[in-house]
Amino acid sequence: MDKRPIGVFDSGLGGLTVVKELKKLLPHEDIIYFGDTGRVPYGTRSKEIITEYACQDINFLLSHDVKMIIAACGTVSAVLPQSIIASLSIPFTGILLPAVQAACATSQNARIGVIGTPATIKSGAYGRAIRSIRSDAVVTGNACPLFVPLVENGYVKRSDKVTSLVASDYLKIFEGSGIDTMILGCTHFPIIRDIISDMLEQDVTLINPGEETARYTAAKLTKEHILNAPQHEGNCRYYVSDAPESFSEYGSLFLGEQIGGHVEKVDIGQLPANITK
Ligand code: DGL
Repeated sequence: MDKRPIGVFDSGLGGLTVVKELKKLLPHEDIIYFGDTGRVPYGTRSKEIITEYACQDINFLLSHDVKMIIAACGTVSAVLPQSIIASLSIPFTGILLPAVQAACATSQNARIGVIGTPATIKSGAYGRAIRSIRSDAVVTGNACPLFVPLVENGYVKRSDKVTSLVASDYLKIFEGSGIDTMILGCTHFPIIRDIISDMLEQDVTLINPGEETARYTAAKLTKEHILNAPQHEGNCRYYVSDAPESFSEYGSLFLGEQIGGHVEKVDIGQLPANITK
């Protein structure tokens, strides 16, 4: 048993779609969430800057003595160098591996689609990870940068014409690709999964990174014997780098419930940009 919290971070609000699934699957766990709302988006930045920001986010969570770290950000998951992950003394996961494992297990025909931020798609990390499990896989990817601001600004209803128009343009590339499975490679995207689904052929299964990451985390904590006590009622503490009020206001869309509890602003730029523990 291990009473320490799980640390979760994202560039902003999207990671709350992972917290939502963690709360369902691991109700006895405490969670410390950091959303880098002052520096979002990460997905349009360079690998170097994303890595620097992610190291600061990880250092913040380490300072809270967490027992596992989850990068609930598709961009960080795709870009963070393996050497940094290997330097951590506690378990770590991004959303990439859980989503890729699920997609490889789901796909019947090994034709898999991936959508994400520009940095995620440019990294090629999903294609490499998929082919390491299924060498026969044909992977088709596309960057969907406008999905993030559309979701953050609340254009998420199935009837929203702007989001549907943007989605039809981004997803045109998958017509005739034969994909039967698509990874939502960004934690904002499950919020508009119905719109995405409407633009794809009917038999495409969408992989929600939040659900898969929560399953992966539950299995990891169980395997490492570091679950919290079953009688403990888990709680969440939230930290952001800007505008705690907006986080509380808009976060509920991602979390699927009100952001209960305290949201505190921290100065993330002060922290070292390399892993210190
Ligand atoms: N949550 C981020 C991701 O999953 C998207 C937002 C951003 O670009 O920072 O990639």
